[in-house]
Amino acid sequence: MLNGLIILCAYLIGSIPSGLWIGKIFYKTDIREHGSGNLGATNTFRILGKKAGLVVTIMDVLKGTAAVLLVTLPVFSEVSIHSLILGIVAVLGHMFPVFASFRGGKAVATSAGVLLGYTWPLFILLFITFFLALKLTKIVSLTSMIAALVALIYAIVYYFVMGDVALSILVAFLFSFIVYRHRANISRIKNGTEPKVKWL
Ligand code: G3P
Repeated sequence: MLNGLIILCAYLIGSIPSGLWIGKIFYKTDIREHGSGNLGATNTFRILGKKAGLVVTIMDVLKGTAAVLLVTLPVFSEVSIHSLILGIVAVLGHMFPVFASFRGGKAVATSAGVLLGYTWPLFILLFITFFLALKLTKIVSLTSMIAALVALIYAIVYYFVMGDVALSILVAFLFSFIVYRHRANISRIKNGTEPKVKWL
């Protein structure tokens, strides 16, 4: 019963379509009708500007963190579910949100939030990697996939050093989700039509 409830909570938290709601409520704009058509933080930056983009980034990251930390709530003290399963469920909610016709984002910010909640040093490493790679490539989607690859390498090394198989499995899932959700971006990168950020 409690196990089902905590999974439902993680899914509902992940399902909050921050970009869609911020756009509709404060800018009277459905960001899915503009830019890449994605409701994630990148398209929010692109369409609604830095302030909205930053708010959506923080909200999407915190969804993943909140889901992982659900197990620390006293009401869920009896549950037997690994916190990383809740992280995966939240990312699935972000990709297939019940509040946005199951058409969600590309898993990047919420995955980062899951890692922030579980192992913050990896989050810091990815944060730095993201900005260095973005400075070099100027392409957010490519940068996201580079950061996901760095996370995968970190998780594999971490497994051999610390024996934490759960983190490796989680990151393998997140890496697969992120690459899968960037299929259209990969095609555009290949044919040179993926947009570049202008502000770096
Ligand atoms: O986090 C999503 C980002 O990697 C790509 O977003 O809008 O350029 O497809 P977008």
